[in-house]
Amino acid sequence: MTLRLSNQKPFAQGGNRLCFVHPEHPDRCIKVRRPDFSLADRRRKKGFPKNLKPLSSFDDNREEFRIMSRFEQYYGDRIFHHVSRCYGFTDTDLGAGLVSELIRDANGAISETLKKYLWDHGLTDDCQAAITTLCEFWQREAVPSRDLLLHNIVVQKGPDGQILRLVVIDGLGSAGLIPFHWLPGAVQHHKAGRKVTNLHKRIQDLLNQRGQSEFPGYHGLLLHDGRAQGKDLSPENQEHTEPHGDKTSS
Ligand SMILES: Nc1ncnc2c1ncn2[C@@H]1O[C@H](COP(=O)(O)OP(=O)(O)OP(=O)(O)O)[C@@H](O)[C@H]1O
Ligand SMILES: [Mg+2]
Repeated sequence: MTLRLSNQKPFAQGGNRLCFVHPEHPDRCIKVRRPDFSLADRRRKKGFPKNLKPLSSFDDNREEFRIMSRFEQYYGDRIFHHVSRCYGFTDTDLGAGLVSELIRDANGAISETLKKYLWDHGLTDDCQAAITTLCEFWQREAVPSRDLLLHNIVVQKGPDGQILRLVVIDGLGSAGLIPFHWLPGAVQHHKAGRKVTNLHKRIQDLLNQRGQSEFPGYHGLLLHDGRAQGKDLSPENQEHTEPHGDKTSS
């Protein structure tokens, strides 16, 4: 069966994908490729020599599914405390959709990104503690990831607004040719440690920007909070942003 998404408003848009609430499972999301930024566009943007790679290697959904299957085998359930669970592919009228756990707060709202949280509240004690927990986990378990970007981490809150956990929802796996867990243990831990150090730097950079009036960039903001499904698709209610396809900025 093909799920209809085209009558729903996405709750978020990254540089590469649109994210929808699953029409049949409110606790899951479906990510599809942005129709305005095809795999061919993305490959073209990369330039030589990366543009020699096969088109499929530019597909985030395919790559994420492969990595998440490995994570489940390698770590078991404990990884899903800090990484959103993946449920595989489903057919949608916007193409193949990757289904994953949708992180929501206790009040039902889709959890906001760490970027948005820090922008709104600064580095609260609660948030500092949650960041420390995530970073210790990342380093201890030597989780392979790309740079830990502030818009790829969401902050799940409990009934009193207290932070329950930080969950990484994108940017997992390593770019190297050698499978990460074949590397010597010390190298794995060193690589994970570097990602943690960079995360602290990104947090500091964002906190330093807080004086300015505008939220920096469009990454990290939700289009709706998932409590009313956002079904109004009239053109004036559609938000558009430029595709960018790179994962290095926060
Ligand atoms: N499982 C989830 N639970 C809650 N929110 C999510 C989830 N997955 C994605 N989001 C929200 O959707 C936004 C975009 O999702 P995602 O990062 O997967 O898209 P992308 O196009 O791959 O991003 P990028 O621009 O980093 O390539 C995130 O910044 C986050 O706010
Ligand atoms: Mg992302």
